[in-house]
Amino acid sequence: SRPILIAPSILSADFARLGDEVRAIGAAGADWVHFDVMDGHFVPNISIGSGVLKAIRPHTTLPIDVHLMIAPVDFYLDAFAQAGADRISVHVEAGPHIHRTVQRIRDLGCKAGVVLNPGTPAKMLDYLIDDVDMVVVMTVNPGFGGQSFITSQLRKIEAVRRMIDKTGREIHLQVDGGIDAETAPLAIAAGADVLVAGTATFRGGPDAYAGNIAAMRGPV
Ligand code: DX5
Ligand code: ZN
Repeated sequence: SRPILIAPSILSADFARLGDEVRAIGAAGADWVHFDVMDGHFVPNISIGSGVLKAIRPHTTLPIDVHLMIAPVDFYLDAFAQAGADRISVHVEAGPHIHRTVQRIRDLGCKAGVVLNPGTPAKMLDYLIDDVDMVVVMTVNPGFGGQSFITSQLRKIEAVRRMIDKTGREIHLQVDGGIDAETAPLAIAAGADVLVAGTATFRGGPDAYAGNIAAMRGPV
């Protein structure tokens, strides 16, 4: 079985102490830092941008996984790459030139991910999958932390896993939204290997992070 990576979403961290928070999740066994960017336009909420990314970058050696929920997106890619993103994921719904956007992310030296909203079918990947490093299946409608896992997406995770395996390439399959110790095993069984979790990582404060992360990763 494939190794399971945990990517805490700092959307649920204490924004007044973000440097401490990314250090704490690193010490607690997190694999990546998931950085949610929302523009109040593509999604009905506003979060954090490249200035905040630049500020936390010196506080962690973990890869920073930037999830851009913004449209249009292309103009902002350089700023996130320069601020220290290792990976950048963009929504297939966010613009008409997703393939060009993915190429640009790779030209900037970052790993490229494409994200599917809950209402978007897996077949949107047909002409993208050969050029991406990760596929993200949203298991909530993006915009807010703390929502419930949408179980209909398990079928999509299974379909995307089949598509990835057919390529023969190493492509991560990330799930984002409503992941906790109960839903993590469902996502893993359906084929996911990277779990994003905000609420379920940060609940209980810093002393709880290691236990929270271990509970989602499951038996090693
Ligand atoms: C949803 C974001 C997620 C979210 C996850 O819009 O992309 O990364 O913060 O939060 P939880 O784990 O609380 O569902
Ligand atoms: Zn996210």
